[in-house]
Amino acid sequence: MAPAAVGTAQVIDQLNAFDLAEKTPLHKVTVSADELGEAIASAAATTETRLPSARHAHNTRSPFYPDIHVDLVDRFVDEYRPLRVAVVGGGLTGVTAGALLPAKVPGIQLTIYEKNRDFGGTWFENVYPGVRCDVPSHVYQSTFAPKHDWSDRFAYGAEIRDYWQSVARKHNVYQYAKFRHRVRDATWDDGDKVWRLRVQDLDKAEDGSADEGAGLTTETFDVLITAFGKFNAWRLPHYPGMAEYRGVLRHASDWDPTFDPRGKRIAVIGNGASGIQLMPNLQKVVARLDHYVRNPTWIAPNWAGEERATGAQPYPEELKRSLADPKTYLDFRKRAEDRHWRVFKNFLGESEANHELRDAIVEVMRKRLAKKPELFDKLVPDFPPSCRRLTPGPGYLEALTEDNVDYITTRIRRFTATGIETEDGVHREVDAVICATGANRRVVRHRSPRPLAARRSG
Ligand SMILES: Cc1cc2nc3c(=O)[nH]c(=O)nc-3n(C[C@H](O)[C@H](O)[C@H](O)COP(=O)(O)OP(=O)(O)OC[C@H]3O[C@@H](n4cnc5c(N)ncnc54)[C@H](O)[C@@H]3O)c2cc1C
Ligand SMILES: NC(=O)c1ccc[n+]([C@@H]2O[C@H](COP(=O)([O-])OP(=O)(O)OC[C@H]3O[C@@H](n4cnc5c(N)ncnc54)[C@H](OP(=O)(O)O)[C@@H]3O)[C@@H](O)[C@H]2O)c1
Repeated sequence: MAPAAVGTAQVIDQLNAFDLAEKTPLHKVTVSADELGEAIASAAATTETRLPSARHAHNTRSPFYPDIHVDLVDRFVDEYRPLRVAVVGGGLTGVTAGALLPAKVPGIQLTIYEKNRDFGGTWFENVYPGVRCDVPSHVYQSTFAPKHDWSDRFAYGAEIRDYWQSVARKHNVYQYAKFRHRVRDATWDDGDKVWRLRVQDLDKAEDGSADEGAGLTTETFDVLITAFGKFNAWRLPHYPGMAEYRGVLRHASDWDPTFDPRGKRIAVIGNGASGIQLMPNLQKVVARLDHYVRNPTWIAPNWAGEERATGAQPYPEELKRSLADPKTYLDFRKRAEDRHWRVFKNFLGESEANHELRDAIVEVMRKRLAKKPELFDKLVPDFPPSCRRLTPGPGYLEALTEDNVDYITTRIRRFTATGIETEDGVHREVDAVICATGANRRVVRHRSPRPLAARRSG
């Protein structure tokens, strides 16, 4: 049977009348291919009439959708507009962004601002004795740049730094870097829809100039990615008398490589992961070590079943050689990741797994404190394990039991010219105070001027 003759207007009406819920036309109509083509051409012509220029916004009415407002841009779909992207920070996050974004975002114009002289972030800056990863090396790496020949089960800081710099070289990330450039602040301009970054060239700023604005320029970007690290802004504590203290005063993350701790009397403040890692490494070489601790913390025996040691834990050469085979290495990595990430059930406060973990840790802590069992009660927290990130702290408990260590839980009252006085009036003289007191986490603060303010104008 010949198709019913219908005009283009009717075809459009019929198409509009299509009942989406029922998925059937309300009125049956037969349309030839030619007629349908004509109808679509006519509909397009109507749209064009309503849209004198494709760049103009317009309202489209549809029986199925509310009014929509679309800005159409007059360009080919595969013709990408340039996208200016700023990444602030060149640690693991910044290097990863520098490797992956150009591969995935067409039209990107990338700049990575890094205040240091090179990539590496945490692992570039932290050089205190014993600095090391507490996550197995083969897990603490990039998924797209696996390194099969890590030297140690828990890599030291320098090897991790070198690894990330090698990732940056391999993926040509250095071309995007502006080293020794600190982003002072970033402001979203709601009118122009851009980010304005005030960036300081530190080499110009520190060129003997007292001018706060030396080397300062304003740069404009469409996208801002913050990769400046939660622990990057290390923070000294505030105690009365600190300015009068005449010994060496440093933050652990600001370790002076020329400082020789051997034979010295040293105070270490703080028992976060940095303090726990630093303390046993110093204890072996110093004359005396005063360890100031405000609150107890759990010292995990191992990390995801991997035994820990204070010293190096190198991989056997034979195993390293076997991991050069990609398939063997992939299996090895899968097993390592699996062991590492399955510990999450321990994180649930009152779970059986958490209770079991607590019992296991208590037993190991008792054993490791055998030389001074009286320390045990001072060291066991009243919160479940994993409420705070677990720290394996190899050698930490053993070091605490050594005769040259004082574990001090009385609060610090003040610093003096020669040492630290606690609230019980005891004064301990020291040659150096190392503050492992963590970082300022409030790096991005709404409407705060520094170090990075992300705020909407107006
Ligand atoms: C001593 C130490 C040991 C750690 N050990 C472990 C561990 O064993 N396992 C683990 O999982 N995590 C560990 N961490 C956490 C570690 O920080 C992260 O695992 C990871 O390195 C964070 O990478 P990131 O790129 O996000 O930040 P970061 O490595 O901190 O890099 C941030 C970068 O941003 C730059 N930057 C900051 N502000 C500006 C600015 N305004 N302008 C320009 N540049 C800026 C900094 O110079 C830095 O290079 C450790 C942290 C510390 C401090
Ligand atoms: N590879 C590793 O093992 C490793 C090494 C270092 C760091 N990290 C990671 O890096 C991050 C930061 O660790 P962190 O140890 O540098 O910092 P942190 O976990 O914040 O610990 C800071 C420590 O300093 C103490 N402290 C802070 N202010 C103090 C003050 N005014 N007086 C006395 N004590 C004070 C805190 O005591 P309170 O608990 O009482 O507040 C805490 O013990 C963590 O995620 C950590 O896991 C990992």
